[in-house]
Amino acid sequence: ATRTPLMAGNWKMNFDHLQSIAFVQKLAWTLKDADHDYAKVEVAVFPPFTDLRSVQTVVDADKLDVVYGGQDLSQHDSGAYTGDISGAFLSKLGCSYALVGHSERRTIHGEDDATCNAKVQAALRHGLTPVLCVGETLEQREATENPAEVSIAQLIAGLEGVADDAELVIAYEPVWAIGTGRVATAEQAQEVCHALRGALAERFGEERAAQIRILYGGSVKPDNVASIMREPDIDGALVGGASLVIDDFAAIVRYRE
Ligand code: G3H
Repeated sequence: ATRTPLMAGNWKMNFDHLQSIAFVQKLAWTLKDADHDYAKVEVAVFPPFTDLRSVQTVVDADKLDVVYGGQDLSQHDSGAYTGDISGAFLSKLGCSYALVGHSERRTIHGEDDATCNAKVQAALRHGLTPVLCVGETLEQREATENPAEVSIAQLIAGLEGVADDAELVIAYEPVWAIGTGRVATAEQAQEVCHALRGALAERFGEERAAQIRILYGGSVKPDNVASIMREPDIDGALVGGASLVIDDFAAIVRYRE
């Protein structure tokens, strides 16, 4: 299967709307100068909710090829959920994606697998591609023989009831590699991503599993992205820190050049 690599920048709670606009514009111009072929590597950013409108405006006005999404979404469609953002709001703002179950949501906000599953379904109901994030903590990794065990359990629970042909992206992010500078080795990342693809094949069949993109996330930088991307089951990166620096993120997008 040929899967278009996806380089996704998760800005987390950084930038204000002027910085978000400037970043997207500068990123697009940098990639244009470099003749970046978006058909070969898709580029996505995940701004804070409050910056989505600004990003939409600049992407539309300048006809940029950058796509974007929400860092989270509510599992509910509308109603008395103070502070929450529905999938409908995100799709009306032109979002293509929504992150679901990022480890910071799981740990800081106590989101469990059932909540993540409800959010995956909510994203799909509103025409958004969920990026389901899975990954083990250091403690979990050390407590088992099989480093993929936790991620597979999160994957299966997160995808319960999801249709076989649903648009999905999976992101494997070992918690111990997020924001720590401690990147998983390419082999470690491949081992879990390969196991995840196996679980997808059991769930959706080989053919569908071969089409679903699996990203790696955790301290991805310009100098380690190429070795990670050489692995057969890794189809892109979910980038935190390095996605806040134009030159770094542009270099990650252009990892092949
Ligand atoms: O969503 C992105 C990840 O949490 C990775 O963050 O690149 O700063 O380690 P990081």
